Amino acid sequence: MRISMGKMVLWSGAALGAMVLAASTAQAQEAPTAATIKAADARAAATVKAMKPEEKTILTHGIMPMDLGMGNVVIPKDAVPGAGYIAGIDRLGVPALKETDASLGVSYVMGLRKDGATALPSGVLQAATWNPEILYNGGAMIGGEARAKGFNVLLAGGVNLMRDPRNGRTFEYLSEDPLLSGMLVGAAIRGIQSNHIISTIKHFALNGQETGRKYVDIKISEAAAKESDLLAFKIGIEQGQPLSVMCAYNRVGGQNACSNDFLLNKVLKKDWGWKGFVMSDWGAVPGVEAAINGLDQQSGAELDKGLFFADKLADKAKADPKWAARLDNMNQRVLTAIYAAGIDKFPAKGGEKIDFAAHAKVAEETAKQGIVLLKNEGGVLPLMKTAKSIAVIGGYADGGVLSGGGSSQVQGEGGAVYSIPLSGTGVWAGLIGQNYHRSSPLKAITAQAPQAKVTYRDGRYITDAVEKAKQAEVAVVFVTQFTTEGLDVPDLHLPQGQDELIAAVAAANPNTIVVLETGGPVVMPWLPKVKAVVEAWYPGARGGEAIASVLFGDTNPSGRLPITFPASTDQLPRPKLDGSDWVEPNFAGDPTSGSDILHADYDIEGSDVGYRWFARKGQKALFPFGYGLSYTSFQSSGLSVKGLTATFTVKNTGQRDGDEVAQLYLTTRNGEVKQRLVGFARVSLKAGESKPVSLTIDPRLLADWKNGLWTSPKGTYSFALGKDAETLGEKVSITLPAKSWKE
Ligand code: BGC
Repeated sequence: MRISMGKMVLWSGAALGAMVLAASTAQAQEAPTAATIKAADARAAATVKAMKPEEKTILTHGIMPMDLGMGNVVIPKDAVPGAGYIAGIDRLGVPALKETDASLGVSYVMGLRKDGATALPSGVLQAATWNPEILYNGGAMIGGEARAKGFNVLLAGGVNLMRDPRNGRTFEYLSEDPLLSGMLVGAAIRGIQSNHIISTIKHFALNGQETGRKYVDIKISEAAAKESDLLAFKIGIEQGQPLSVMCAYNRVGGQNACSNDFLLNKVLKKDWGWKGFVMSDWGAVPGVEAAINGLDQQSGAELDKGLFFADKLADKAKADPKWAARLDNMNQRVLTAIYAAGIDKFPAKGGEKIDFAAHAKVAEETAKQGIVLLKNEGGVLPLMKTAKSIAVIGGYADGGVLSGGGSSQVQGEGGAVYSIPLSGTGVWAGLIGQNYHRSSPLKAITAQAPQAKVTYRDGRYITDAVEKAKQAEVAVVFVTQFTTEGLDVPDLHLPQGQDELIAAVAAANPNTIVVLETGGPVVMPWLPKVKAVVEAWYPGARGGEAIASVLFGDTNPSGRLPITFPASTDQLPRPKLDGSDWVEPNFAGDPTSGSDILHADYDIEGSDVGYRWFARKGQKALFPFGYGLSYTSFQSSGLSVKGLTATFTVKNTGQRDGDEVAQLYLTTRNGEVKQRLVGFARVSLKAGESKPVSLTIDPRLLADWKNGLWTSPKGTYSFALGKDAETLGEKVSITLPAKSWKE
């Protein structure tokens, strides 16, 4: 199938292409386009004119509609327990906004709603599919569930670039590359907003670490920001047309991101001409002046030091025409989003039945495409279905698969199969439990190998695990790295002695296979000793089945790393995570305090995030960006680049059907190392089959941001086809004229 995706043309045979699964009664529609938004904006202007002065601060602030014992919040009758509630204006037919987290599905809010939802795999797994279509399908599915539960805003679209693999939220985000992240988040948002609901894109911007997240001040030049994190947001906005942007906790250039004239007024609203509304992150608003600096709505106001966007804002508007005009604009933006999504005309009533079995298939297909095969020595995988004995060890693999912690935590019906407290007490303790979805890898492996004696040991005792490993033909060791919002990991080792467990099992059984369930990259001191490594990330509601399908070859692995796996933290721009002395659950912190400041210098790598930094430094990763093995082999050849169009052919040169992710990189510009992913396409190929690929290169990826313009110098641009960012194949150099242009 040939699909045109904005600036990219790709061929895909992904099975779920036509299977867009929204909740049963969702009003599937085309997601809002720039034209829909323009029309909504005009309607919004008319409503603002009809508003009474006392109505003008209703849409500008909200609460958290759940009883967390945090004081006297009155929860309205029509609220649904979730992240946020913003009252509507009945007189004008403006509905209330009912908000839930997040990018991986409708969050469980500590079981407060007593229901379940379908958990998509983690964001980084979704990105490892390199498949916008699969993200669209996932978005349509979770948006449908949000709607079915009565929500009309999904706090999704996490797209912060992965500047540090130790970031506790790496699992929620997508990749380290602006093109890949932007294309994928845009597709997910289009899917979500096809349900007559609003999606956010978040956290704007440069929210690259959890350490000191409410007070860390990011230093980065405008040029570097424009060529990296802001470009990911820009592409995401172009592709997905999100109706809301959630600003971030951190500061940028000394200003809180939620009260940041440069980010919100200049870049987002003026330069990009974006018409939706900016909502704050929860507890990220320093004061009423945030309104003048571009914030349109104060979310979960009880988490801030004050209710700034109600009476205080009204008083300002009464006293000063500049504030009055700003307040009108805030209302206009919220209304534009409501009308463009069609929330008033197609209300999400809630209480709808969800087809969990059908939705689980979307999660499973995503997992199958995003699991990455990292090592397969001697073709030990796929395992034979006629295997006689398999030892499964560790990782709670008898019960389920791990998920990441924090506000994005989704649980199926009945909640987690295992829930292991991390630590701590108080209102946030429930947010940082290590929860396992009910999808047992052990059961799925047993089903794949019906004749095998499958034994399980939890791995707590190495001697016992080794004994079982010795008795089996194959040992499959499941290891986990729990990560969570609010807490970065201090290093990239597997925790709790799991490195030693793997080494001991590998010494006892020559056919040891490691399955990683990690939030992001880890180091692998045991790598030479094991035969195979499968990166399953946090694989979601049907992760166990997806893992077994890859292990036994029903699925030919096709995931590719969307983030560099460093050989050690010494290779990172900041070997020591800024402020790592402060590592502690970082839900705390005061965004208004002048003394609580931690500085992080992102100018070290600038826009050379991830593989670009490795190329600049000539460093070799443990596993590079774009890397992933298959049970077949592929060859890309015949590269030709004419202007901004690249064409080449991809061939399946092996014995099995499979998907290749073709990658095209800029490598040098006028002889200077400048590695940038400029195009990609997932291509499904039968054994022996070839297909042509055509990619249109976004000129921003060849350019620098200079003096307020995108600028590309005259000269020689060299491109290479890549198996991954380090394994480059055919190269072509072309000459391009000098060019500069506005956003
Ligand atoms: C997170 C957001 C989330 C919000 C509401 C914040 O702590 O940073 O991503 O949407 O809470 O739950």
